[in-house]
Amino acid sequence: MTADWLDVGPVDQLPAMGARTLPVRGGDEIAIFRTANGNVYALVNKCPHKHGPLSQGIIHGTSVTCPLHNWRISLITGEVLGEDRGCTPVIPVKVDGGRILIGRREALASLAA
Ligand code: FES
Repeated sequence: MTADWLDVGPVDQLPAMGARTLPVRGGDEIAIFRTANGNVYALVNKCPHKHGPLSQGIIHGTSVTCPLHNWRISLITGEVLGEDRGCTPVIPVKVDGGRILIGRREALASLAA
């Protein structure tokens, strides 16, 4: 049986207020973010506006500002905050034993959509 969680590396290699990307088949990416208080979130690395790379945005609290046109995206829900509308898929993520784990099925499903 395939494990539900995919180990994507040690959490201490992801600095607070930082992000890294995980390339997946087909040229898409998952962006993994760490907030100032150490929580970890994962989204498909595409802004719902014009596919800006969210991993290059600035993290404020539990949102990230897209580097292209400054939309703000919730790291918790993937929803655009403020007056604009849209949503980017959220990938379940957890930290276990110092390792970052992401939901394998959800990651594959989001990227196939
Ligand atoms: S592409 Fe993200 S705000 Fe335009």
